[in-house]
Amino acid sequence: WSRFLQITGGFTLVTVGTLGVLFYLAKKEKTPGAQLPHDPEKKTLVVLGSGWGATSLLKSLDTTDYNVIVISPKNYFLFTPLLPSVAVGTLNPRSIIQPTRYVTRHKARQVSVIEASATEVDPINKTVTFADTSEIQGQVAKTTVKFDYLVFGVGAEVQTFNIPGVQENACFMKELEDAEKMQRRFLDCLESAAFPGQTAEEVNRLLHMVVVGGGPTGIEVSGEIHDFLEEDLRSWYPELANNIRITLVEALPSVLPMFSKQLIDYTESTFKEAKIDILTKTMVKEIKEKSVVLQTPDKSIIEVPCGLVVWAAGNKLRKVTQDLMARLPQDQTNRRGITVNGIAMHANYPSEHLRMAGTDGSIFAIGDCTATSYAPTAQVASQQGAYLARIFAQLAKRDSLEARLTQLRSAASSDEGRVEIETIEKQLVKAEKLRPFQYSHQGSLAYIGSDKAIADLPFFNGNFASGGVATFLFWRSAYLSTLFSARNRTLVATDWIKVKLFGRDVSLGS
Ligand code: FAD
Ligand code: NAI
Repeated sequence: WSRFLQITGGFTLVTVGTLGVLFYLAKKEKTPGAQLPHDPEKKTLVVLGSGWGATSLLKSLDTTDYNVIVISPKNYFLFTPLLPSVAVGTLNPRSIIQPTRYVTRHKARQVSVIEASATEVDPINKTVTFADTSEIQGQVAKTTVKFDYLVFGVGAEVQTFNIPGVQENACFMKELEDAEKMQRRFLDCLESAAFPGQTAEEVNRLLHMVVVGGGPTGIEVSGEIHDFLEEDLRSWYPELANNIRITLVEALPSVLPMFSKQLIDYTESTFKEAKIDILTKTMVKEIKEKSVVLQTPDKSIIEVPCGLVVWAAGNKLRKVTQDLMARLPQDQTNRRGITVNGIAMHANYPSEHLRMAGTDGSIFAIGDCTATSYAPTAQVASQQGAYLARIFAQLAKRDSLEARLTQLRSAASSDEGRVEIETIEKQLVKAEKLRPFQYSHQGSLAYIGSDKAIADLPFFNGNFASGGVATFLFWRSAYLSTLFSARNRTLVATDWIKVKLFGRDVSLGS
């Protein structure tokens, strides 16, 4: 009995402790305190976007010294690494988003959050024009604001290469609604295949899922579809499950070029075991309503019937980014994105400070809309956002020192005043020295299905490559800890437990 009581007592203590911490964190998150109002004396910092770069900036930014305005067509942050899990119902869509106001309401000074798309940035007059693109609009649907500083973090959009039929017939995997659309289409294919009287040929077509792009998005989507099939569909659609096929199409000679050879081989062999077909050196030329047209390695053209196509073929710049770059044709010549590195900039502001080349230093660009030596990843964007928060703190300090110096210099000089001027001048020299941005690579991780993940991790001066179930557990814990709030962590962990216990939902929602 005493042993039993010890064990249950310990267990109860741990449970109560964990719940206590959770309640404390939840209460803190949902009860923001009073905020300072906007101050016309302060500089205006406009942030475009609410993705990885912008949210990381907002999280770390001290808003005391700025009037901050956030403009984004989405009033939330989307945790993209777990998006493919939403597409098959492993996670609830709401579990991986965080309303931007949940971040900004905790800031020292009020932050304006505006749900709108920036349509035009004028780098000379320092203005941003933005439009309300939502379904419901008030009387004012377009307006312009002035900025002192602008952080341009609008990300990228899906690259279609203008291939016929992609926009009309494929599902993307970029936004929350893309994952929801894919889930609906996938389940619809199953139900249509189950419709009485379908020919065997039509059933096979409907149950053929094609994923285009062997980058990490395509690999993760294929892995998730496979899990859905093995863990749930075999139970609920036993008559169809054996006919479901997954094909991954990649134009290059191998998938996942950013991972080490060992992990590419591991992924390919895991996919082979999972009966996911990989077609490399094969290019999609057209997507039709019921088929996909492929150019095979021997350059012949074939048409393959399919029910669903998921298009994960990379990024391209948004129009607002292209338009902004077009205004600075001398400096913005890289077609991949905004140049912030490598071009000589304003004398006081070297390029490594993420300032947009060709501007006077008031526009910063971060994340997928930039062309740097780093891959367009969440890791890079979030580090850049956090870095800019430090830069803005330093700029605010510099501004206040300069203001004090002007004040002292214009006042009648006394010995005391002269000493303070000297001290401030020294502090100013320090405040002027802005550290350049330095990226610290934490490794690359990807889920490949069958409860396996791959990881290329920096290890001393080399690289540690690992793949398998242990890496999958590492992948889950890494992303759980990277989620931005206790709320999201709880929701995602609960979803994982729910799916383990009850499986994924196969009802076809609206
Ligand atoms: P985003 O996060 O895309 O944010 C852009 C923001 O700008 C959005 O809020 C958008 O609504 C807003 N916006 C768009 N247009 C406008 C406009 N006109 N005006 C104002 N705002 C606008 N990277 C990793 O490192 N690890 C991963 O595991 C990983 N997994 C991924 C999985 C998927 C499915 C995808 C699609 C990407 C993944 N990535 C991953 C890449 C990562 O998501 C991006 O590199 C990252 O989102 C870039 O951050 P960002 O802030 O530049 O852009
Ligand atoms: P990507 O650009 O990495 O891969 C797209 C792939 O599609 C390329 O390999 C390309 O050759 C192929 N492709 C393009 N057109 C094609 C066609 N017509 N036919 C066949 N294949 C075609 O894109 P992805 O996977 O969306 O990733 C975008 C960025 O996000 C990358 O930087 C990536 O590193 C990052 N990311 C990282 C993840 C992770 O670390 N786990 C997960 C998802 C994305």
